[in-house]
Amino acid sequence: MPFLKSTLSRKNLMALTGLFLCFFLVIHLLGNLQLLLAADKASVSFNNYSTLLSGNIFIKIIAYILYFSIIAHAVDALVITVKNRKTAAKYAYDERKHASKWYSRNMGILGTVLLIFLVIHFKDFWYVYKFGALPLDKNGNKNLYVIVVNAFHSWWYVCIYVVSMFALGFHLLHGFKSAVRTLGLYHPRYARYVEIFGVVYSYTLTIGFSFIPVYVYITQYIK
Ligand code: HEM
Repeated sequence: MPFLKSTLSRKNLMALTGLFLCFFLVIHLLGNLQLLLAADKASVSFNNYSTLLSGNIFIKIIAYILYFSIIAHAVDALVITVKNRKTAAKYAYDERKHASKWYSRNMGILGTVLLIFLVIHFKDFWYVYKFGALPLDKNGNKNLYVIVVNAFHSWWYVCIYVVSMFALGFHLLHGFKSAVRTLGLYHPRYARYVEIFGVVYSYTLTIGFSFIPVYVYITQYIK
């Protein structure tokens, strides 16, 4: 598509899909906080919630937009990185390391870690929920709760999550600010507030998403 050929429109699409994914993450974290409830309450509430989401046509449409956003965001990132590498090779000096943070220069590596995380995440939770033969809970809902909690009973699995969540945090630290700037969504006067919001957002998501597997792991010994 000629529209997607320009780097500017690719950057705009990347910013838009990135901000949509940022919004999804807040909703996803809020839903997952139910895993912190006492086991009997958590399983009823989490399984009800999953059943409710999977049966709702509005949520299904949002989910397809979500899958499209993940793929478009990753493909655009790859195309822009390859283009930038080709351009950078023409210049003898690259002074970026003096002017930017390490995570801003390594968005591709952080994104790749997240992509690997997502493959594991989809295989173990999403695929199992949609296509696996799950046991049912006492209300007749698919017992996704037991799958998630059992996964977080092994220390190495929790480590994969925590490391991935830190990659996510650094990715967001640069990505949120960059997306808002690309789309020109703020007046320069408010740049400082956008930056502060981005930092608070990134820290909250990293700590929130990391805390859940660590908490589930630890509480298996306190029963
Ligand atoms: C404590 C951390 C997390 C837990 C416990 C968790 C749990 C889950 C579960 C149980 C599902 C399957 C249920 C469903 O499809 O509705 C799911 C789906 C998903 N998760 Fe996570 N998740 C976590 C972190 C993340 C992170 C950090 C990301 C993104 C970087 C993410 C992205 C997704 C996506 C895209 C789906 C598919 C949603 C859909 O089909 O509507 N998750 N997650």
